Amino acid sequence: MEKKTYKHWKLETDDAGIVWCYIDVKDSSTNVLSSQVLDEFTDILDSVAEQAPVGLIILSAKENGFIAGADVREFTTIKDEKDALLMLNRGHDAFNKLEALPFPTLALINGFCLGGGLELSLACDYRIALEDEKTRIGLPEVLLGIHPGFGGSVRLIRLIGPIQAMQLMLQGKSLDARQAKKVGIIDYMVPERQFHKAGPDLLLKRPLPKRAPRHLALLNHTPFRQLMAKYLRSQLAKKVKSIHYPAPFKLVDVWEQYGDNEKAMLKAEALSVAKLASNKSSRNLVRIFLLQERLKENKNAKDFKTENVHVIGAGVMGGDIAAWCALQGMQVGLQDREARFIAPAIKRAASLYKRRLKLPRLVTNVMDRLVPDINGYNLKKADAIIEAIVENTEIKKGLFQELQDKVKEDAILATNTSSISLEMLTDGLKEPSRLVGIHFFNPVSRMQLVEIIYSDQTGKEWVERAQSFCCQIGRLPLPVKSSPGFLVNRILTPYLMEAMQIHEEGIPAEKIDKVAVDFGLPMGPVELADTVGLDICLSVAKNLSEKLELAIPQRLEDMVTRGSLGKKSGSGFYLYKNGKPQQQAVQSNGMDSREIEDRLVLRILNECAACLREELVEDADLLDAGMVFGTGFPPFLGGPMNYAHDRGINNITARMEELKSKYGQRFDPDPHWEKLAGDT
Ligand code: NAI
Repeated sequence: MEKKTYKHWKLETDDAGIVWCYIDVKDSSTNVLSSQVLDEFTDILDSVAEQAPVGLIILSAKENGFIAGADVREFTTIKDEKDALLMLNRGHDAFNKLEALPFPTLALINGFCLGGGLELSLACDYRIALEDEKTRIGLPEVLLGIHPGFGGSVRLIRLIGPIQAMQLMLQGKSLDARQAKKVGIIDYMVPERQFHKAGPDLLLKRPLPKRAPRHLALLNHTPFRQLMAKYLRSQLAKKVKSIHYPAPFKLVDVWEQYGDNEKAMLKAEALSVAKLASNKSSRNLVRIFLLQERLKENKNAKDFKTENVHVIGAGVMGGDIAAWCALQGMQVGLQDREARFIAPAIKRAASLYKRRLKLPRLVTNVMDRLVPDINGYNLKKADAIIEAIVENTEIKKGLFQELQDKVKEDAILATNTSSISLEMLTDGLKEPSRLVGIHFFNPVSRMQLVEIIYSDQTGKEWVERAQSFCCQIGRLPLPVKSSPGFLVNRILTPYLMEAMQIHEEGIPAEKIDKVAVDFGLPMGPVELADTVGLDICLSVAKNLSEKLELAIPQRLEDMVTRGSLGKKSGSGFYLYKNGKPQQQAVQSNGMDSREIEDRLVLRILNECAACLREELVEDADLLDAGMVFGTGFPPFLGGPMNYAHDRGINNITARMEELKSKYGQRFDPDPHWEKLAGDT
């Protein structure tokens, strides 16, 4: 019989009669399940079924992982519910076929095994994963506004019981190999040297495929299911609103209704995902996912590898940047004026590592990479040097002049300044094109976005290297033209000032914050100002006040003078107990919520329009990405400019005119709206 060849898969039969089915998606660095890949897979299953082998092993030919999920780019082509259902049924047909094969089947998992990738593995009889820190196993579909749709919800519940399965699917959390073994998703976790041998061993032994233990499976029956569904909904409601993020709530509905009838649940699962995939929330979340990929794209500096980083200034920012780089595998030197300034940073790093890594052996490994270095011995070895000393132009300038002769020729020379324009720091540098801004946000371990600041002088290659460096430490770099406040702080400041202004008009802080959170922001503006520090807010506002003609509320100045600096001083707009703001119940009071929402949100949108007019970032999509990953602007809205377009440019400007006549010139619509209105 002529051997058939496939574009994305490769088949081999070994001497023991086992078929090895390798996935290697063509022209893609990562394996994803596109319609074409799934069609080929179904075809393969038909032909392997005819061959009736001893067993089937499915594995990846790519080193970076097994399968990262469905092809998210294909989601953008979904026209309607019917279209989505067609796509989902393709996966269902393939995995039902895989599950029904009369010989044993096994998934051999390395690296990513997420979404559709795990759903495929769950349709196999057995799963073995590589014992490696890169192994990630999970069903993160809710992050894209859907839930598992290729039968994964039914099969995961069957395998590990509803409690763990629902938690994993509702949170979209992924597990490492050890955790996946513990909850029972995989049968074995094996080291590299046994990886390929373990598959045939298990297939030949052919033990009974694992199922959830009886006491857990029982929870899938009616009275328990209803009770647990109620509990899950109440837990979810504490975190997200169903109108913003319907997917997890829909999964609970499907399970509550059909949990004890697998066939019916498979059908309901697909129908539910088809509905979700065609709604706005999911489309916007997919948009944000793809924008995140765009931020990570790094065509030109792919080969620039950072292994050694040197950070100067071990304060709040420098200390945390250094700690983060070491956690991401870099060798790090941390320099300050005296050892006593470095000690607190090392202490903070240790507690971060303990929280993240748990095992003392792993903590020690990372601590060994973070080296206090008062004399700067590491400078000449570093691939990237980041300055995070006091915010003073002359001192920073002096430091860079000193540094330029001490560092490697191809090392990145960067400043973490939050307010000094790049041009002011290049005086006296032999190679001014070399200096870039790498502007991290506080707290470094939680804020994904990093602004890469460039001026007219900055060399493109240095910007690209800085982008590449940020990707290597798991951060999302956004190139931004040097200008006061850069992008994120510039857009946030008018919004924070508006919140304070509303507060001065007698509206309680709690009410203002609630409106913002109801809109979908992770934290209200008043609490945000307290958290950032009122002194920092004031200094950023002063820095921007001339350019943006900002009115700074007198109350902010008074509070800073009094030492009432927000969370860090125990009092700001709120009083703090154990780091938590003491908020009163919100009474309905004066201004209606819609008015507050528009005053806050339209200040953000208007500043976004101004930044686009000044071309601070390449385009509106990147601005949206910056605001989502830098401020938590609601991802389900797809970013501020996407929201503006959804709402209608004319609607925005008309509302701004109304607010302008009521509250003044600060609501004057930016001229860029006119251009946008003309474009649409
Ligand atoms: P910080 O005051 O906590 O730390 C500054 C550190 O630099 C101190 O430990 C000080 O001893 C050290 N230092 C001063 N001069 C030095 C020198 N010549 N050589 C070596 N070390 C020296 O300040 P923070 O907040 O960490 O800010 C540092 C930089 O990061 C500033 O440029 C700031 O604008 C920027 N930034 C701050 C953010 C924040 O939220 N605090 C956010 C983003 C950027």
